[in-house]
Amino acid sequence: MVVEGLTRRFGGRNVVHDVSLNVAPGQVTCLLGPSGCGKSTTLRLVAGVDRQDRGRILLDGTVLSDDSIHLPPEARHIGLMFQDFALFPHLSVIDNVAFGLSGAKAAKRKRAEEMLEKVHLAGFGSAYPHELSGGEQQRVALARAIAPRPRVMLMDEPFSGLDNRLRDGIRDETLDILKAENTAVLLVTHEPDEAMRMADEIALMREGEIVQRGAPYNVYNAPVDRRAAAFFSDINVIRGTVRGALTDTPFGVFLAPGVPDGTEVEIVIRPQHIRIDFDRDGRGPNPTPEDGVPARGTVIRSRYMGRESLVEFLMDHDGSVLKATVPSVFLPKPGTALWLMIRRGRCFVFPVMKTAAAE
Ligand SMILES: Nc1ncnc2c1ncn2[C@@H]1O[C@H](COP(=O)(O)OP(=O)(O)O)[C@@H](O)[C@H]1O
Ligand SMILES: [Mg+2]
Repeated sequence: MVVEGLTRRFGGRNVVHDVSLNVAPGQVTCLLGPSGCGKSTTLRLVAGVDRQDRGRILLDGTVLSDDSIHLPPEARHIGLMFQDFALFPHLSVIDNVAFGLSGAKAAKRKRAEEMLEKVHLAGFGSAYPHELSGGEQQRVALARAIAPRPRVMLMDEPFSGLDNRLRDGIRDETLDILKAENTAVLLVTHEPDEAMRMADEIALMREGEIVQRGAPYNVYNAPVDRRAAAFFSDINVIRGTVRGALTDTPFGVFLAPGVPDGTEVEIVIRPQHIRIDFDRDGRGPNPTPEDGVPARGTVIRSRYMGRESLVEFLMDHDGSVLKATVPSVFLPKPGTALWLMIRRGRCFVFPVMKTAAAE
């Protein structure tokens, strides 16, 4: 499915602006962004329950919607799954699954039974939705959505109503089924973890626009700006000013290629990428090209988080606070002096954005 330049205005404001997407069969594209950025609106345009002011939507080269054509949702070969599963409470599970199917009664029933087997609910056909757990209801909703063999599945925060322990299993199961059916999936979520786990491609959305797209690895490891970096994890920010395409900091020199002299830049580093070394009679390790110059800090807090330890430092040179996470157990006592290094291959250097202060 191809989405080109979708724009939707409400009350004179672009809620969705020039959004383009390409969702291939068997692939999951994840529209990821904070609440209110226009994800659901985009999905509703694709579903056909709302109409864009500009742009077009195509499926296998056929126009579903443009300036002159606007197919209704039921003519789009699209399946929908939303947070509230919206099963029909007065219909049995099998009738819920068969609901969107057309054709002879026996054929519909057979297809619905196949679908229930696929989501591991064979034998639940005559139950009613209220007799099922949240996870089971979710699987019925999935069975119902895929029963008509949609080419594209649109999912809006479909797992957010489930409790954490259930979620991972159901996510993986859902993904396996959709991949096996070779369905193109457009999944909306505000949770970076969910996007990282499920997406083949992430389209990062902000204020109605897609600001970055790519495989989860690339979006995480090569963010386009500070806000994109901060959307996926806590970050540390160190400021500097550019002279001759370099910026000099207490952590040594960083490259700032193509950035004009006098520009203020932010060096962004995720807490797990800070390197820590021990104090050696007031000295740290020697500078290296990869780690730069070590800067000394004093531990102000150490917390054990289970998978990792989080250590906060008050930096000697400017009194700023930096956070570092270390896998496993590392709990230095408050007051301990340690040396911090910023790995050049792990940090990002961005010119300061005017809007960054607002966050
Ligand atoms: N029918 C509508 N009329 C006016 N404003 C709307 C309408 N639908 C959505 N909006 C506004 O568009 C913005 C984006 O909403 P939405 O797409 O639901 O965001 P998200 O799903 O990313 O949380 C919000 O500010 C919302 O209030
Ligand atoms: Mg939404």
